[in-house]
Amino acid sequence: MPQARWDHTRIPNQAGKLAVVTGANSGLGWHISLQLARQGAHVVMACRDKARAMQAMDAIRAEVPDARLSFQALDLASLDKVRACAAALAAAHPRVDLLVNNAGVMFLPYALSADGFEIQMACNHLGHFLLTGLLLPQLAQAPAARIVTMSSGFNHYGRLPQGGFKGQPGYSRHRAYCDTKLANIVFARALSSRLARAGSHIASVAAHPGYAATNLQFGAANLSASPWLAGLSRASMRLSNALLAQPASMGALPALYAATEPGVKSGDYIGPDGFQESRGYPKLVDAPKRARDADQVARFWAQSEQATGFRYDDAALNGETDQRVVRLR
Ligand SMILES: NC(=O)c1ccc[n+]([C@@H]2O[C@H](COP(=O)([O-])OP(=O)(O)OC[C@H]3O[C@@H](n4cnc5c(N)ncnc54)[C@H](OP(=O)(O)O)[C@@H]3O)[C@@H](O)[C@H]2O)c1
Repeated sequence: MPQARWDHTRIPNQAGKLAVVTGANSGLGWHISLQLARQGAHVVMACRDKARAMQAMDAIRAEVPDARLSFQALDLASLDKVRACAAALAAAHPRVDLLVNNAGVMFLPYALSADGFEIQMACNHLGHFLLTGLLLPQLAQAPAARIVTMSSGFNHYGRLPQGGFKGQPGYSRHRAYCDTKLANIVFARALSSRLARAGSHIASVAAHPGYAATNLQFGAANLSASPWLAGLSRASMRLSNALLAQPASMGALPALYAATEPGVKSGDYIGPDGFQESRGYPKLVDAPKRARDADQVARFWAQSEQATGFRYDDAALNGETDQRVVRLR
């Protein structure tokens, strides 16, 4: 278990490691990338906007002049673009030591992804489900690879989708976000079990940041059709962030702990140790009850395979299939 006050100064040397961080240009992903680079990892910043990623790299280099950073285009809202990203990563990097499934969107109005899935579920879960599967051959090449998937305390309010990923009539964008974050913790834990059963040494760990002031809270306002409502939403989020949130550098600690602390075990879930897990330093936390229904998890997993066209069979879990994409749809 973590000792008191584990912070970024306790991250072990990462020299020689290759880390892929999704959504690395902003918020928690930026801080995760900064601290991994500070400890010598080569960080591939997998982002959807090259200009924003380049700005983010400059900001990291301002703090860590010799940081090893690369950009990789990734749009999680399109499965074809996820496949293209995985192919480019495989061509450039035969070994991946760490994959941080961090990118996310929150409370967006109802929309469908390029593949016809509810947009929050597509970005937060399905894109990462496919990316992770496609990178297993590279992860299998690392002696102690880890996959860290970012969930949220909101996972307690989510339900596992059982009838596909298109969203429901009477859609609630708040509930839909909670569903995606339950999907993230369930994915991390079920992947851990499957990897172990298949005899793989790759670890899958989940983390959540508590409440941290980032750009996440402003994504929905930026898409609002009404300038008045958008302004109101931005102002209330700014106030809430100022009064209640911890800094993004603190919110990044559970994922950094999950990614680098030697004592972390596959299947662990790391969150903050403070009031209602909303802030503080990393500790082992409990997964929500709704993540534990074996029948629902099995159905959810099968639907994720169906939706993405990627089957996590034993060969795939052991990284023995290269860019294996089984079209199930
Ligand atoms: N902040 C919190 O309090 C909090 C609490 C619980 C959980 N989380 C989780 O923490 C993670 C990081 O969020 P954050 O707070 O750091 O928010 P953020 O500052 O908004 O960062 C989100 C990142 O995800 C990227 N992203 C969004 N859609 C994408 C797509 N389709 N393809 C590729 N990248 C995409 C964003 O790229 P752009 O910059 O191009 O938009 C950005 O880099 C999320 O999974 C979120 O659910 C955050």
